[in-house]
Amino acid sequence: MTVAAFQPLTLTIDVHLDAADLRAALARDVRSGLGGAPKSLPPTWFYDEEGSKLFEEITRLPEYYPTRAERVLLERHAGDVASLTRSDTLVELGAGACEKTRVLLDALSAVGTLRRYVPFDVSADFLEASATALTRQYEGLGVHAVVGDFHRHLGKIPGGGGRLIAFLGGTIGNLVPSQRRRFFSELRAIMAPSDHLLLGSDLVKDVGTILAAYDDPKGVTGRFNRNVLQVIDRELDADFVLEHFAHVVRWDPLEQWIEMRLRSDRDQVVHVGALGLTVPFGKGEELLTEISAKFTPPGIRSELARAGFVLDRQWGADPGDFLLTLAHPASRR
Ligand code: AVJ
Repeated sequence: MTVAAFQPLTLTIDVHLDAADLRAALARDVRSGLGGAPKSLPPTWFYDEEGSKLFEEITRLPEYYPTRAERVLLERHAGDVASLTRSDTLVELGAGACEKTRVLLDALSAVGTLRRYVPFDVSADFLEASATALTRQYEGLGVHAVVGDFHRHLGKIPGGGGRLIAFLGGTIGNLVPSQRRRFFSELRAIMAPSDHLLLGSDLVKDVGTILAAYDDPKGVTGRFNRNVLQVIDRELDADFVLEHFAHVVRWDPLEQWIEMRLRSDRDQVVHVGALGLTVPFGKGEELLTEISAKFTPPGIRSELARAGFVLDRQWGADPGDFLLTLAHPASRR
């Protein structure tokens, strides 16, 4: 359903998910996540307005290296990406405020192939404003925003031409291996031979550096973590008291991922009014709120190969901080 089409052919926003769909999805996740043992919640729900602000603040912390490392890589290699792919469409999965977009748009526009930008996100909140700004900044650029979720609406991404599908920021690390396998093969299934995937993923490194990035001394990450409880309080009429949950970060050496948890500092009972749910927490009980997996270049290559992709190039930052991978569907060449 196209709900807004200002400047016909320049800016289109297709909405496949609305606020009611999101609330229903949150209700499902809360019911199953807080009803389960151990308790968990998917990290998708961090990002309301406050959570998005806190994440922005995280990206500026000296300890949180991934955003800066990825930006350096993008600035250094966007030209290579553009000349290797000569894409006419940039698709950005999880575009949010369309922050990293400009580097890629500039590079594609410098090789003269750029025609269209397709930001894809679960939330329409930032899409409209940032998409409008981009149509003003890039003459003749068609912006076709898509509001949807990764599992159901990848097929709604407009096709044609050669698309560069960017999935940046290390968000792939939020998925466990089986979810990654599914995501990569669903992505492969909607890609044409002329399309490319540009993936940003964080790399395994010394544990101290990783832990510090998720447990900053200013406590911004802790506030970000606890904010998910506030989202549930507001959206589902729950009575979580944020101060009664402590931010806990742990490195899992076998899974090679960071875990963020919220630890109940006492025996307490939480009610989720909208769901008629009563949730007991024991003192010291933990709620898993996020995993953020770290990768190696060959690990990414083999996960992609398994889903039917061939590598074009991988670029790592000097200290091996972060990785950009460019790949295309295997059936070609
Ligand atoms: C946005 C999922 C890439 O995993 O590093 C930052 C989110 N969590 N600090 C990450 C996050 C805690 C971030 N991603």
